[in-house]
Amino acid sequence: MEFKRITGDRRLYWQLLLLGDEQPELVSRYLSKGELYALYDPGLVAVAVVCDQGSGICELKNLAVDPAFQKQGYGHRFLEFLTDLYAASFHTMLVGTGGTPRILRFYERCGFSYSHKIPHFFFDNYDHPIVEDGILLEDMFYLKKDLTQKSS
Ligand SMILES: CC(C)(COP(=O)(O)OP(=O)(O)OC[C@H]1O[C@@H](n2cnc3c(N)ncnc32)[C@H](O)[C@@H]1OP(=O)(O)O)[C@@H](O)C(=O)NCCC(=O)NCCS
Repeated sequence: MEFKRITGDRRLYWQLLLLGDEQPELVSRYLSKGELYALYDPGLVAVAVVCDQGSGICELKNLAVDPAFQKQGYGHRFLEFLTDLYAASFHTMLVGTGGTPRILRFYERCGFSYSHKIPHFFFDNYDHPIVEDGILLEDMFYLKKDLTQKSS
């Protein structure tokens, strides 16, 4: 398994990025200021984007594992890599999610806990309804992880 910071052509990763976030304009916006990472094993398995939000806070803007490789521990390992990496320069990592039980449980098992929510975010920022696990997403739920505490 290998983690790579991607600085060249990002088109290769576009399909996976859209799996993590269905709104191309939003992906383009944070991709232009964020850092893109890819997980290979040995082919491309997953992508992630992290942005500096200032004041020692970074935000995981996108995390997507190829459906053929989900539920094999790659998501967890990728998050572990990213939190270890960003702990060198940031005290907190945030992640925004639609708040479906499966995704909330995934992040909670990775050491994240509820921070706050932005009401109607998906209605206001997406040009079509976003449905995840049969649930229509409305509010954006933010979870946070304290990067100063070494995870177990
Ligand atoms: C959310 C997402 C990133 C998780 O990635 P993943 O690689 O499937 O995550 P993991 O395999 O590490 O963990 C997922 C579940 O599989 C389980 N799992 C891990 N390895 C396993 C194995 N070998 N056998 C069976 N189950 C396993 C984990 O226990 C975990 O269960 P939990 O969530 O109840 O704790 C992935 O589903 C995804 O890309 N979804 C689409 C995009 C998306 O929704 N991104 C998040 C936006 S906020």
